[in-house]
Amino acid sequence: MEGPPIPSSFTSAMTLTRMGDPHLPNRFVLPPSQRPNPSIPAAAAMPVIDISGLHDPAHRPHIIHQVGLACKELGFFQVINHGIPSSLMKDAMDVGAEFFELADEEKKHLVSDDVHHPVRYGTSLNHVKDKVHFWRDFIKHYSHPLSSWIHLWPSNPPTYKEKMGSYAVAVQGLHKQLIGAVFDSLGLRADYLEEDIEQGSQVMAVNFYPACPEPELTLGMPTHSDYGTLTILAQTHQGLQIMDHAKSWHSVPATERALVVQLGDQMEVINNGRYKSVLHRATVNCEKKRLSIASLHSLALEKKVGPAPELVDDKHSSGYKEASFGGFLKHISGNEFTKLGRYVDTLKIDEPP
Ligand code: OGA
Ligand code: NI
Repeated sequence: MEGPPIPSSFTSAMTLTRMGDPHLPNRFVLPPSQRPNPSIPAAAAMPVIDISGLHDPAHRPHIIHQVGLACKELGFFQVINHGIPSSLMKDAMDVGAEFFELADEEKKHLVSDDVHHPVRYGTSLNHVKDKVHFWRDFIKHYSHPLSSWIHLWPSNPPTYKEKMGSYAVAVQGLHKQLIGAVFDSLGLRADYLEEDIEQGSQVMAVNFYPACPEPELTLGMPTHSDYGTLTILAQTHQGLQIMDHAKSWHSVPATERALVVQLGDQMEVINNGRYKSVLHRATVNCEKKRLSIASLHSLALEKKVGPAPELVDDKHSSGYKEASFGGFLKHISGNEFTKLGRYVDTLKIDEPP
């Protein structure tokens, strides 16, 4: 019999890269049906929306129209001219990479396999539970309101708190504008749930995918949807793929200065299924390290939310039970993530016959 696993010990993907083995360790090898198709091109036709005129009454309707189309078709779009200075983005990405490049010794006090922990460094999804591992190291930290959490963030690199914190605040502000645009596109007031959003949760997942010796056999993150309202993601290189309604995968190009916006499960519930949360995954490559910062927004941990009453009528009965971030954590803390299925699927109410 094997003894219980020791939660605080694992070998990071970064350490494996440094060891330079030309082969991928067996625990990372996915069954053939789950491996990425290496020939998926960066899709040229992925929506990129210029939001510089979002607050200009002459331009807003057109932007809202584009947002609505993208949400309906894909649950995904990229934004440019979003107002977050590129220096702020670059500083956060650089200091994130520096963190992962520190010796394991410097990071191990942040290791936790408890999904309720407000700051958590780890590898794969959950190094204790995962049968197949994913080629990713990550740190996740609660981020809003910043003053409640920042003291728990890494003190090394010394500028981590300042650089990541400035970016977190900027993204929280952008989220407010984007969620207003999504609500507007649904015919809801742009300030729908404003107070709940102000008091909502922001978790930043900083994901690090070192160069991988056999990228065609594994993934950095398996297929999933995010739990919240919107996820706003910055990436240094291409690697994110999204699935369309016809179940085809598309690579998201790493567009300079753009941010990726993805609809999460809580948004699907609020809009009563008009817009679906987007399935996505992260691939890895053999040449370059890749870093992404996913800012995951939702209403407060224990705040439950169901479909907006304005979106429930004779033609659209209420299709979902109430969802909360806490409900999602409960859902994933029970078992191995990849076997669980999606949180949003546990919330669906069958149509009455
Ligand atoms: C996530 C995520 C994708 C990526 O953190 O939820 O989907 O490209 N990340 O890192
Ligand atoms: Ni995700």
